[in-house]
Amino acid sequence: MPHPARTAIVTGASRGIGAAIARRLAADGFQIVVNYAARPEAAEQVVRSIIQAGGRAYAILADVSDPAAVAVLFDQTELEYGGVDVLVNNAGIIQPGLVDLADTSEALYDRIFAVNTRGTFNTMKLAAQRLRDGGRIINFSTSVVGLALPGYAAYAGSKAAVEAMGRVFAKELRGRGITVNCVAPGPTATELFLDGKDAETVARLANLAPLQRLGQPEDIAGVVAFLASEEGGWINGQTLRVNGGIV
Ligand SMILES: NC(=O)c1ccc[n+]([C@@H]2O[C@H](COP(=O)([O-])OP(=O)(O)OC[C@H]3O[C@@H](n4cnc5c(N)ncnc54)[C@H](OP(=O)(O)O)[C@@H]3O)[C@@H](O)[C@H]2O)c1
Repeated sequence: MPHPARTAIVTGASRGIGAAIARRLAADGFQIVVNYAARPEAAEQVVRSIIQAGGRAYAILADVSDPAAVAVLFDQTELEYGGVDVLVNNAGIIQPGLVDLADTSEALYDRIFAVNTRGTFNTMKLAAQRLRDGGRIINFSTSVVGLALPGYAAYAGSKAAVEAMGRVFAKELRGRGITVNCVAPGPTATELFLDGKDAETVARLANLAPLQRLGQPEDIAGVVAFLASEEGGWINGQTLRVNGGIV
């Protein structure tokens, strides 16, 4: 019997790192759900590029901060592909530019935690029931948790919680053959990083790495692909910082 095709949901896959992950996992043979929140054209463009390259992909709208929308995301994925094997919790937000804790509004704090932390909680909670045994969960943190850079307090806090929840969840899934890991990129050339920063700030942050450049989405996608692959199957409950050596 041939293996059934494996399916990966990539949250926030309409652009940036998520789009690169979707394309890479599709090239590795996964059927892909390209999740997005606000930009259907961008998501459809990612789907088209995967199909043109010979893969299978389908775009599904769902705001990960909304548990009802996340339930629909799983329902539609199962209808389309029959099940879910890999969940990549890539969707995330940050404020434009840098904002010190003292200047962070309650509304901004709530929004960042709603998408980054509660969004990951929402999808992991459903994955506990609905990911097939032997699956993979790959969460997203940030190297700023280690760097403790001024201007990132709420964002770093929201991601530190993601790292902690994932480590606990990896143990709670004992017996299912499912791994839970976290990828923590450093500065990576996407809208999330570049928005609201002047050229000098971008150059300063790019130069933090001894490798002296910004990460590219594909640098991160390769690591996610490894964690999703058979070869990555013995890594569990870990956070991998992927940042050219900044911390
Ligand atoms: N870029 C960096 O330097 C960097 C560094 C460390 C960690 N990270 C992390 O890496 C991940 C990807 O970041 P990125 O730089 O690729 O960001 P990005 O370019 O801003 O893309 C964000 C993606 O997330 C989606 N999204 C936003 N809010 C959502 C929600 N509520 N529900 C579902 N999808 C949502 C967006 O969809 P729409 O297009 O529909 O809006 C988009 O596809 C994030 O978790 C981020 O925190 C990034």
